[in-house]
Amino acid sequence: MSVPNNHGNTNDNLPWVEKYRPESLDDVYGQTEVVTTVRKFLEEGKLPHLLFYGPPGTGKTSTIVALAREIFGKNYSNMVLELNASDDRGIEVVRNQIKDFASTRQIFSKGFKLIILDEADAMTNAAQNALRRIIEKYTKNTRFCILANYSHKLTPALLSRCTRFRFQPLPRDAIEKRISNVLIHENIKISDDAKDALITLSQGDMRRVLNVLQASKATLDDPANEEIHADVIYECCGAPRPADLKTILKSILEDDWSSAYYTLTKLRSTKGLALIDLIEGIIKLLEDYELKNELTRISLLSKLGDIEYSISKGGNDKIQSSAVIGAIKTSFELEAAQ
Ligand SMILES: Nc1ncnc2c1ncn2[C@@H]1O[C@H](COP(=O)(O)OP(=O)(O)O)[C@@H](O)[C@H]1O
Ligand SMILES: [Mg+2]
Repeated sequence: MSVPNNHGNTNDNLPWVEKYRPESLDDVYGQTEVVTTVRKFLEEGKLPHLLFYGPPGTGKTSTIVALAREIFGKNYSNMVLELNASDDRGIEVVRNQIKDFASTRQIFSKGFKLIILDEADAMTNAAQNALRRIIEKYTKNTRFCILANYSHKLTPALLSRCTRFRFQPLPRDAIEKRISNVLIHENIKISDDAKDALITLSQGDMRRVLNVLQASKATLDDPANEEIHADVIYECCGAPRPADLKTILKSILEDDWSSAYYTLTKLRSTKGLALIDLIEGIIKLLEDYELKNELTRISLLSKLGDIEYSISKGGNDKIQSSAVIGAIKTSFELEAAQ
């Protein structure tokens, strides 16, 4: 669990996700609504139990830690208990920890203590029900903040006791603003298309952005003078480059079966590409294709969707590669015959 870090003594050994964790609510980007509402609760002195949910890397943990720091300042460690529900601990341990924490006397009386329960959607229903009773029991002097990726994995009883906030994937401009600070601080340069690729590939996950950026910097021989190019970003993400995708798609559409199969497998093995990422990339490319008949698109997407599902179920790689070629070829042949 993260301890509030002290940016005063910048630690260069820290992974960037820790180094650039928002220190205050002002550093939380792209979640304006959440931040303003939570701030308002604070000003009014009426903090309810909170539930933050949304995809990974959108700032749930960072926001509650920053909020707690604003409330408690240097008493943070006395007043805040951070628990991770996905740790291999039964509800009994959690219950005891919460009980010990909530029932010790408050030396710095500030109304309430805060318990942060991270990854609560990993808890069983039984544990969640037990938690519901714990929340009720200690509401007088504690506030709970529950963090989860999916709200539908939480029991309704738990949901109804919290004020819910959904964290959105970070919008482009928020990511851009955030990384501009990091780039200056780390003294690195990045080309425009690389930045664009980084933001697109991260899909609003700021943790991914920071990890990929740090990995990309590590590949440079001379970070002070070199620039990060798009190729490096694709490589660090393990994502196919648009040029490679175009080569594969072109070969499938224009060449005979065996050449197409050869191109696809060759590029895959030299670039180490996962079939699933290829399909995703091809679907993106096809978005820009103008088709005579929308039915082509519909049937193709549904076939590719089936293949994606088969892969996730552990389908044979060779067979699924052939299926991708088959799906695209047949759909476009039908289109041409129109
Ligand atoms: N909204 C945001 N604004 C600024 N940085 C963010 C934001 N969301 C995530 N980050 C960065 O990504 C990392 C992971 O964030 P975290 O709060 O742990 O995400 P979550 O708990 O939603 O998975 C943090 O270290 C932080 O630097
Ligand atoms: Mg988190």
